[in-house]
Amino acid sequence: MTAVTPDDLTISPRRIEFQLPDPLPRYWHGGDPFKTHFFNAMSLLFPDGERFFIDSVRYFRDRVEDPRQQQLIKGFIGQEGHHSREHIEYNRRLEAQGYDVTALTEPVRRRIRYANAHFSPERRLAATVAMEHFTAIMADAVLREMRWFDGAIEPMRQVWRWHALEETEHKAVAFDLYMQVSGDRAQLRRAMRLSTFFFLRDVTRGVWHMMRRDGRLTDVGSWYRGMRWLWGRNGFFSGLWSAYRDFYREDFHPWQHDNYRLMQETQHEFDAINMLGTKP
Ligand SMILES: [Fe+2]
Ligand SMILES: [Fe+2]
Repeated sequence: MTAVTPDDLTISPRRIEFQLPDPLPRYWHGGDPFKTHFFNAMSLLFPDGERFFIDSVRYFRDRVEDPRQQQLIKGFIGQEGHHSREHIEYNRRLEAQGYDVTALTEPVRRRIRYANAHFSPERRLAATVAMEHFTAIMADAVLREMRWFDGAIEPMRQVWRWHALEETEHKAVAFDLYMQVSGDRAQLRRAMRLSTFFFLRDVTRGVWHMMRRDGRLTDVGSWYRGMRWLWGRNGFFSGLWSAYRDFYREDFHPWQHDNYRLMQETQHEFDAINMLGTKP
């Protein structure tokens, strides 16, 4: 099975001003502590993670001669930069609610400092490719099924769907670059195993911290419903398993998961938001 990045794909960051309420409702996701904190915990990872992705792609930018690929890389950097800014704003709201954002993000920063000091640029790019696959398959689920944000407040639903849309648009940029400058599949698979471990650990730690601050560690009902929502039949993570595993194939390419149409359909959603008067 082969696939390549679609010829007519363009990547450009959207400047949408989201009206995140301040203060944020504590359980903005349908009043559900677990679901809310699951997304909150991911948001905490984005600013540092996306900075790392940008740096690891930018390092190889000069090696790219194809003007179209240069354009796509520029779009990638612009989009990730915007995401970071929006998630910093989001994370400020979490800090204001009394969660220890610094303590939760410090391990990520430490790990990135370590990678920058000890990993080769190719290996850092491989880590980026792995994390981009993770975000791409979650983004696909978020775009495909509205139910993941059932009950969420509208600005949050928009932030997450906007992020999912742009993650889909640029899902193969780091991958295509990696194949050009390295192509070592074994390194990609190692990077994926490590990234999976750290991603799950960081998200779990974030959820645990916020549930503890809320005095909900013993709220068995919330944990049970949350775990079922994530890992149960038709759960958020359960549904990602097969797309996740495809990454380990020798001929994997992100656009083998063809969600180009879905992506185009979602784009209209954001044209509409702009027309409704949100700042372009
Ligand atoms: Fe992003
Ligand atoms: Fe991304």
